[in-house]
Amino acid sequence: MIVLDQDNRIFTLHTRNTTYQMKADQYNVLLHTYYGSRIDNCDLSGLIQCDGRSFSPNPNEAGSNRNYSLDVIPQEYSTCGVGDFRLPSIELELPSGSHTADLRYEGFRLEEGKYILEGLPGFYSVEDEAETLVISLKDSAAQVTLELYYGVFENFDLITRAVRVINQGTETVRLCRCASLCLDFLRSDLDMITFNCHHLMERCLDRGPLRSGIQSVGSVRGTSSHQHNPFVILCDRNADEDTGICYGAMLLYSGNFEAAVECSQYEESRLVMGIHPYHFCWTLAPGETFTAPEAAMVCSPNGFGEMSRQFHRAIRKHLLRDPYKNERKPILVNNWEATYFDFTADRLVEIAREAAALGIELFVMDDGWFGSRNDDNSGLGDWKVNLEKLPGGLEALVPRIKGLGMKFGIWVEPEMVNEDSDLYRMHPDWVLRVPGRFPSRGRGQLVLDFSRKDVRDHIYDQIKAILCSADISYIKWDMNRSLTDVWSAGLPAWRQGEVYHRYVLGVYDLLERLHRDHPQILIEGCCGGGGRFDGGMLYYTPQIWCSDDTDAIDRLRIQYGTSFCYPVCTMGAHVSAVPNEQNGRITPLETRGITAMSGAFGYEMDLGKCTEDEKRKIRCQVERYKAHYGLIHYGDYYRLSSPFQDNSYTAWEQVSHDQSEVLVNVVLGCTHATSPFCTLRLKGLNPSFQYQIDGTGTLYSGKVLMKAGYSFPQMQGDYPAFQIYLKAIE
Ligand code: DGJ
Repeated sequence: MIVLDQDNRIFTLHTRNTTYQMKADQYNVLLHTYYGSRIDNCDLSGLIQCDGRSFSPNPNEAGSNRNYSLDVIPQEYSTCGVGDFRLPSIELELPSGSHTADLRYEGFRLEEGKYILEGLPGFYSVEDEAETLVISLKDSAAQVTLELYYGVFENFDLITRAVRVINQGTETVRLCRCASLCLDFLRSDLDMITFNCHHLMERCLDRGPLRSGIQSVGSVRGTSSHQHNPFVILCDRNADEDTGICYGAMLLYSGNFEAAVECSQYEESRLVMGIHPYHFCWTLAPGETFTAPEAAMVCSPNGFGEMSRQFHRAIRKHLLRDPYKNERKPILVNNWEATYFDFTADRLVEIAREAAALGIELFVMDDGWFGSRNDDNSGLGDWKVNLEKLPGGLEALVPRIKGLGMKFGIWVEPEMVNEDSDLYRMHPDWVLRVPGRFPSRGRGQLVLDFSRKDVRDHIYDQIKAILCSADISYIKWDMNRSLTDVWSAGLPAWRQGEVYHRYVLGVYDLLERLHRDHPQILIEGCCGGGGRFDGGMLYYTPQIWCSDDTDAIDRLRIQYGTSFCYPVCTMGAHVSAVPNEQNGRITPLETRGITAMSGAFGYEMDLGKCTEDEKRKIRCQVERYKAHYGLIHYGDYYRLSSPFQDNSYTAWEQVSHDQSEVLVNVVLGCTHATSPFCTLRLKGLNPSFQYQIDGTGTLYSGKVLMKAGYSFPQMQGDYPAFQIYLKAIE
């Protein structure tokens, strides 16, 4: 609900459990007055007590009032070079050479439903599920107007934000920084949580107290990256899964980003999040507009668990798009770890035949089917079937797979090219490269200049021809290197600071075209695993390959960290062979199944090599996953323990909305002889329901299971796992 107090110029956004407030003050500065637990309508600017501070300048209009300084007051969108020395949200280069931006309140408007950002991903609403407030700020000297957009999804405690910059003057200005979100706090006794690490170990949770100065995460790799995720949390020092206030902020963007927090001299803090300013400079001719990508915030007064569940609900309902937001996604088998580049049509059909017999529904042909691709040194860019490997092409292969009762899916890496390819030989100028330098290779490949429409059109036409040549139900869209040598032959020198962002817009453009022309095709995002796992990609690809690390124990950490923002239905997760290809670890098949089942489930192994007993177990896993699909994908997710803190077990749970069904998942660490008792207290159950434990006649009340807990069976061997399904009895 948006509440306007026009006389006092106060804007209050209420969600079910939270309140967010701004106020335009006597100097037309837009103050940020409050964000936290829901409270009544009132003027919260009284929380800001101005006092004279040396070396904190006073704006000209303040005259002799030395108590008022932009350097100290909490603001809605911070300025640059005019008295606030903390993190700026915007930086303008004006024709005079000045690098200042001074923004004052101009007005507001309400829009029906949720605003839309042309060419950019964003949360969307249907009918009246969201409201929009737009506040205009203006830099009068620069003749630049900023529109701050707020989308309020009341039932999800979700507030989205975006920024539009409009040059209303008669001269060209340059935008050197334009954040999507600025969030000021009057306190700094907060912890910051970020999700970091590297390829094969993405989104590991890292928590620490804010310290004086600036702390930040970000990416200048052209993708949101394996190393850091565009999602951060600020929270009470003692916040945990169930208590404490926490603020989650995500950026729906798949390129360079920065999320920085500054703890200022007077123990305030400011979070600024948006496109990374490195090599970002957007030229705005008179009348032109720039739109910064969307950010979204959830505040939970009750710990991380509730914050995550609100993000999950909002992402499932308002970010993922039809048809796969509701349709059941097929269980797949992917041939990558089974064959790598070394396969024939018969070998693929054999893997598919084994999979079909076990109830698996989709066969995915991974890398190696096109051009001259027999290893990773050649072929990228030539999206034509390699007829030596696959005689008769997809026209021959796909009917064989479909004849087994399976759907067919295909791997592509549209953004890349190998120098050993027909495409590169024909268009060497289509890659990102700086004049006079040889471009760096990554995995032996170069990056196509996706900021150029002619390049995208060429790739799209090739991919479209493939999609039209056979009945294809799924695409895995991969991307296997970071961007370097970012320079485009399609833009003049003074526009080169736009290339990183134009590249991302180009990726979105192609994905949108695919979605529009082939809405039934399920697209799985991938970037060497989870190097581009963000809210931007999820708008186009409802699932993303979570990591190239398929080891179940490493995956516990990766999927745990990922779950703080993103719902399990978005996390591609496969059972693979042991010893694991990435770390050599041997885990039981049941453990691999339980871990992968809390995701977009599949297998990635040569099922023909499984014993009859393993096949029986796989058949059971497949049936179990199908039976509990609704609960796993649409249920509420509870983290019961952290794989980072507890080596003895990792547990999590899915609970149906009516609390009548519960799936408890537990993976143990190393087991020991005569191990101690272990009880697990469940969460989110209805205390007065009686729950029956699957396969037994045992009944426990929800209260007992949440207060006293459930006792683990004693198990043997390393990394055993079990799943318990509970059903409420009428
Ligand atoms: C990286 C992906 O993450 C893998 O799953 C696989 O598709 C390879 N690329 C293929 O080159």
